[in-house]
Amino acid sequence: MFNRTKSKKGRRSPMATVSLIVVGLMTTGGAYALFSSTANADDSTSTVAASSQSNVNEGEKLFASNCATCHGLSAQGTSEGPSLIGVGAASVDFQVGTGRMPMAAQGPQAEEKPAQFTDEQVDALAEYVASLGPGPEVPSTDLTNGADGDAAEGAELFRINCAMCHNVAGAGGALTEGKYAPNLETVSGKHIYEAMLTGPQNMPVFNDLNLTPEQKADIITYLKYVQDNKSPGGFALGSLGPVAEGLFIWIFGLGAVVAMTVWLTAKSN
Ligand code: HEC
Ligand code: HEC
Repeated sequence: MFNRTKSKKGRRSPMATVSLIVVGLMTTGGAYALFSSTANADDSTSTVAASSQSNVNEGEKLFASNCATCHGLSAQGTSEGPSLIGVGAASVDFQVGTGRMPMAAQGPQAEEKPAQFTDEQVDALAEYVASLGPGPEVPSTDLTNGADGDAAEGAELFRINCAMCHNVAGAGGALTEGKYAPNLETVSGKHIYEAMLTGPQNMPVFNDLNLTPEQKADIITYLKYVQDNKSPGGFALGSLGPVAEGLFIWIFGLGAVVAMTVWLTAKSN
């Protein structure tokens, strides 16, 4: 009894010990959290770097066995295919993603066909080519999903910039020397963006000064609208516009009137 009171007076109070322990625990805990989180951050950046490096290596292998015959072992170009240094990831993603590359046969235009590679392999090829020289990157999905753009604005831009080759409704059309602008009825938003960014073959490049990323997104929104809302009824007549519609009325409309007149007069006789 005596001892206890003495110790109470002579030493620090038990609360002091408790708070000392709390402070100690918090410092060690805090320091641990700090160090372990920086260590984690280091870890994750190094895994990202490692995985993109292995992607590039993977892409290089795929390239050597599928593309090098025409584009050269280090993509420097040959007489069979152009140099790919500086064309960027977007061009590879477009060309391989739409099945145009690897090109099957020499012709006026690389044909679209079912894609030969998985998405991961396309990414790897794109990263490999992008590692050779800077070029346009694969656009982010918020620009290409067609959800946020202005369809009316996009329709206007499409009429001005694209309709002369692709037709107002994106139905496609013939160009000179056996080339053609394909119809845009099934193409994905990402590939629409990349086509504008890289200008495949006879198509002009629409860089960000010609059409801002927002305007490109508007065009995608318009084309998605056309894809989702097929002609509301009747014959679309290939959406060729007033000439085709006028011709249709002259031949079939007027023809019907003539046939009716002939039938009526034949009856009255
Ligand atoms: C049979 C030959 C051939 C093969 C194989 C081939 N290409 Fe091509 N590639 C061409 C030709 C020719 C062009 C240019 C004309 C064209 O775009 O149609 C071209 C164009 C390209 C372009 C567009 C370049 C630009 O200026 O934007 C890319 C990207 C491309 N090829 C990537 C590839 C990749 C990746 C592979 C392998 C998966 C591949 N090609 C396989 C012949 C080939
Ligand atoms: C001078 C004619 C011309 C103009 C103008 C033009 N294009 Fe093209 N476009 C083409 C040709 C030719 C191709 C096919 C290239 C190929 O097969 O490599 C093409 C291909 C495309 C493709 C790829 C289609 C697919 O099925 O893979 C898209 C998408 C596209 N164009 C969108 C547009 C948009 C959007 C515009 C306007 C901003 C536009 N184009 C303006 C000629 C044109």
